[in-house]
Amino acid sequence: MCGIVGTIRVEGSVVKGLIEGLRVLEYRGYDSSGIAVARNGAVELEKRAGRLARLEEALADGHLEGARAGIGHTRWATHGAPTDANAHPHTGSDDRLAIVHNGIFENWLELKHELEGEGVRFSSDTDTEVLAHLVERRRAEGDDLPSAVRASLARIRGYYAVAVLSTGANGPELVCARQGPPLAICTTDEGAYLASDVLGLLPYSRDIVFLRDGDVAELTPGAVRITTKSGAPVERAPERFEADSEAVSKGDFEHFMLKEIHEQPEVIARTTVDRIRADAGDFVFEGGAFDDDFARSIARVQIIACGTALHAGWIARYMIEGLAGIPVDVDFASEFRYRNPRLVPDTVALAISQSGETADTLAAVRLARELGASTAAICNMASSTQVREADQVVLTHAGPEVGVASTKAFVAQVVAAYTIAVRLGRARGTIDRERGQVLIAELEALRAQVQTLLAERVTGRVLEVARRYHEAKGFMFLGRGINFPVALEGALKLKEISYMHAEGYPAGEMKHGPIALIEPGMIVVAVSSRGPLAEKVRANIEQVKARGGVVVSVGSDAGSHAISDMSIEVPETSEWLSPILNTVPLQLLAYDIAHLRGCDIDKPRNLAKSVTVE
Ligand code: G6P
Repeated sequence: MCGIVGTIRVEGSVVKGLIEGLRVLEYRGYDSSGIAVARNGAVELEKRAGRLARLEEALADGHLEGARAGIGHTRWATHGAPTDANAHPHTGSDDRLAIVHNGIFENWLELKHELEGEGVRFSSDTDTEVLAHLVERRRAEGDDLPSAVRASLARIRGYYAVAVLSTGANGPELVCARQGPPLAICTTDEGAYLASDVLGLLPYSRDIVFLRDGDVAELTPGAVRITTKSGAPVERAPERFEADSEAVSKGDFEHFMLKEIHEQPEVIARTTVDRIRADAGDFVFEGGAFDDDFARSIARVQIIACGTALHAGWIARYMIEGLAGIPVDVDFASEFRYRNPRLVPDTVALAISQSGETADTLAAVRLARELGASTAAICNMASSTQVREADQVVLTHAGPEVGVASTKAFVAQVVAAYTIAVRLGRARGTIDRERGQVLIAELEALRAQVQTLLAERVTGRVLEVARRYHEAKGFMFLGRGINFPVALEGALKLKEISYMHAEGYPAGEMKHGPIALIEPGMIVVAVSSRGPLAEKVRANIEQVKARGGVVVSVGSDAGSHAISDMSIEVPETSEWLSPILNTVPLQLLAYDIAHLRGCDIDKPRNLAKSVTVE
């Protein structure tokens, strides 16, 4: 959730590089930030509650310039309010070392009490500070920095990525360690760099070393030495990271979210093009994922995900059941892992995740594996833990997603789920070659259809809706069948970035409770595509109107538009792909409303892009 960077260079000042690194990672957490540098035998630091700009102001006089090693942190608070004192880095009792941390030390209070009992005074409410004191004590006993970090972490239970900066007899020292949240490293002739996200390293190198759980790494300019928890040296070969660093700039767009919405036609193409086997009416995945033998062996699919990825999972359920005839369960990862689940033999646990680092999703899939399931992942980050641990992987090629509210990653997940559903159906004989070819043709048409949704005719209409209703009392999103999860996603997008009250509901459930909320000023967004359920959605629209609610219909069903107060027309596609086309205007609607309300769209309050703690 927090962002971590660290640098040790042969010469030159590190402040600018650290700040640039934090700026790229600010999406991970942004309630406070800080840096520490090692200079003249001491560690000096500056940290501030609030956005990174506040830290930059504090550094503007250049008082930390000239240091050749440093660490930085942008925080999403878990222990202790977002104040200057609780911002990272944290130091021990003197000015010889500083620590930044992402994750949670579960037994921190126990350790804190023990240390306090021995006379240590704490200057923050964080769990992190415990580690600073533990390392400091091992150093005082004569340990070198990597050994001190290993020994201190051995006392800690929890999930973390940490970086420790210290002043040694021969100059600054930098060590980092991982147990859970990701940590990546690269080296050049000038220095060595660490970051909690590969995006923070791309300005320096494309050859990235990803630490594994339990690794402790010592960075020196141009080199990195990695050991396991027990101190045994290990080799971690660098992986080439090909993503374009342009992908992490906003280009001509005002916000990353808007840019990412506009990238969706391209993302659909990238996620599908090499996998299409038009002649066979089929898809093929890298590494032989979901091959015939495996596809035929599946008795049940258990989908596990969080947030927006879970909504993609709900859509995947309709696709896999409808196209391949395999029973599918979907669960919140955070619920699955604690509800003592029962799995039938030959279950495949399918994780869906943009980051591949979401703590609950990782833990739920590990549990499914223990219960005998094989594992698969739909994931956007090739180098992630999720991908490394899964038996089968289908990567989405959405590119780096920076806006906290997920857009293009969601569309890529739904597209990937569609290709898997068709592949399973082809292997199991529920889809013949001709039908497979039709399903592929519909997918191939999708890119241009999304493009039309991003043209002014539609975006202008969405903006009109936003202008009219951005001060409404609240929103309810309704959808049925495969478009019910689209209603959930539409509501989630709106609440995430505009802070308006928004609920998503299966339209048929409305009369079992939510209809009590309908009154003038309540805006109902009805997702309604042509097809067998359109008539039922129209009936729901009538019920809302009869109670004084305002209805905005979104979809391809002209009948629904005719009886609604406002409508956003969406091109017609198959039932299976309609969720993608219906989602795009809802993303734009959330964006426009948040914009009109003056919200911080790319960094909504209280949220983090990647939730690597429980
Ligand atoms: C956070 C993000 C959401 C995201 C969810 C799951 O809550 O704010 O946008 O959908 O995590 O993340 P994942 O990386 O597993 O898709």
